[in-house]
Amino acid sequence: MGFSANFEVVKHVLSFSGWHRSDFLSVERNAFSRYIIIPILRDLRKIVIAIDGPAASGKSTTARLVAEHLGYLHIDTGAMYRAVTLRVLEEAIPLEDIGAIGALAEKTRIHLERAETGNRVFIDERDVTREIRTEAVTRNVSLVSSYQRVRDVLVREQRRMAGTGGVVLEGRDIGTVVLPNADLKIFMIAGVAQRVERRKKELAINGIDIESEKLEREILERDRLDTTRKASPLRRAAGAVEVDTSSLTIDQQVQFVVGMAKEIIGE
Ligand code: DC
Repeated sequence: MGFSANFEVVKHVLSFSGWHRSDFLSVERNAFSRYIIIPILRDLRKIVIAIDGPAASGKSTTARLVAEHLGYLHIDTGAMYRAVTLRVLEEAIPLEDIGAIGALAEKTRIHLERAETGNRVFIDERDVTREIRTEAVTRNVSLVSSYQRVRDVLVREQRRMAGTGGVVLEGRDIGTVVLPNADLKIFMIAGVAQRVERRKKELAINGIDIESEKLEREILERDRLDTTRKASPLRRAAGAVEVDTSSLTIDQQVQFVVGMAKEIIGE
């Protein structure tokens, strides 16, 4: 956004309104020798934060609370891959039918809504928040999300949702593929034991009880699939800050990311 004016008028208006030069990005001459102000106030700058990492590394909780703290939108991209997987299972499409699964992804309308307990996930008007966390979906989501056509559809949608900023996106390929120019990139990791414990608690909230050994096998298998697939494998993006959450409290994780974000915003 910009507008042009005589420089003297600009200076007068700025001093009259109490602005300082550091409050806006620049006052420059444009091609018509007019002065252009780009009046983006520092405290209005909304950045894009990308948080990637393996399953149960703490990224969902961190992303949600960081977004809350900054008044940003939280976009859980894993939930979107889960929603497509749920539809594949409901339609009983064979898991190797890449064409049919890609077509289904194209016509599946997913949206996320903010609620007190975190995001709610909808397919059309149907609330599928709970269903996308079932064992059947978890078991098959790595395969469905490995299909390039599914990824193309969802990445396009994620970029649209990220808009011009004020968002925290969380997933596996946000910093590497979806938004490589994100202002802040975080790569979260944690020890397997902590990840199993966290996943167990998360499932318990949804009334699902799975024994730890089984959860560990599932988590390790998902790591293997997510890091070795051909399409956008999970890896640390260039410029991403690695955060090991094994011995951090949720509050510490959140404060760390919020602190980095504020440094970038200039607060
Ligand atoms: O974060 P999650 O466990 O809910 O993610 C479910 C699956 O979706 C995960 O196994 C890999 C896939 N995923 C992906 O491929 N790319 C993303 N950006 C997010 C998730």
